[in-house]
Amino acid sequence: MKKIRKAVIPVAGMGTRFLPITKSVAKEMLPIVDKPTLSYIIDEAVESGITDILLITNPYKKIIEDYFDVNYELEKRMEEKGKQQELNLLKNTKGKVNIYFIRQGEPLGSGHAIKLAKTFVGDEPFAVLYGDDIMKSKTPALKQLINLYEEKDANIIGCLPVDKNLVYKYGIISFDDETTKKIKTIVEKPRIEDAPSNIAGLGRYIVKPEIFDELETLSKGAGGEYQFTDAMMNLMNKQEFYACLIDATYYDTGSKIGYLKAVIDYSLEREDLSEDLMKHISEIKK
Ligand code: UTP
Repeated sequence: MKKIRKAVIPVAGMGTRFLPITKSVAKEMLPIVDKPTLSYIIDEAVESGITDILLITNPYKKIIEDYFDVNYELEKRMEEKGKQQELNLLKNTKGKVNIYFIRQGEPLGSGHAIKLAKTFVGDEPFAVLYGDDIMKSKTPALKQLINLYEEKDANIIGCLPVDKNLVYKYGIISFDDETTKKIKTIVEKPRIEDAPSNIAGLGRYIVKPEIFDELETLSKGAGGEYQFTDAMMNLMNKQEFYACLIDATYYDTGSKIGYLKAVIDYSLEREDLSEDLMKHISEIKK
């Protein structure tokens, strides 16, 4: 079985749910305390053993390339001033992972974006992490998927249970076998009464390279976009998929409420911030 070494992170979406800031700032670069969302996701990939990451970006998101590049000027100045702590913060992923960039000319959907990773991926199974989905967990979420992949040698979808009344917002898993968690199909945004379960597929995937055959022949789906989920559903007719029930707290930082929850939760875990923040929260609650 081939090891999972490569990850693809599509970050070229328009971020319409987070307008107007996304007019000029990529939603994946909005700060959760003092690090961009994307940095948390890259850390998760690195802690899961990923060595090479392809970021699929677009011409309006140069800020992403800059962030993961070296800021020589700032590093030199911090060094001259002997500011070691700040210098360490500037180095972020340096030396830990190779990061590559490619641009999606037009935001035609997640499937269209991931198709651009074909040459980077080659003939290996690989991970996909959505650039606006944060998973806060003890064991990195992607590592949990990799563990299941190593057991099953199959495609894996990262899943979490969602409120039964909110299934209409998600891609809901229909199981072939509830015990083994073998997936039959995904029902996109079902009505509450039609939902086959309350388990949603959310932002973390391990797929075999044959996914590219499906991406090549994919038709437009929901929202007139090429949807990655549709390509996986086509591959399900030929290969096995399993659900990995991730032990994590999920934040959809592409939505305003998901983003705010992430900022609060991560701030409350910070020694330098939690006390003051809690004090503030109890004051405004009065
Ligand atoms: P989303 O559906 O969350 O992103 O896609 P979006 O299209 O920006 O969302 P809206 O506009 O608020 O509804 C999941 C991931 O796929 C990327 C996004 O950047 C996000 O990380 N994506 C989406 C692309 O890279 N290209 C696309 O054409 C669409």
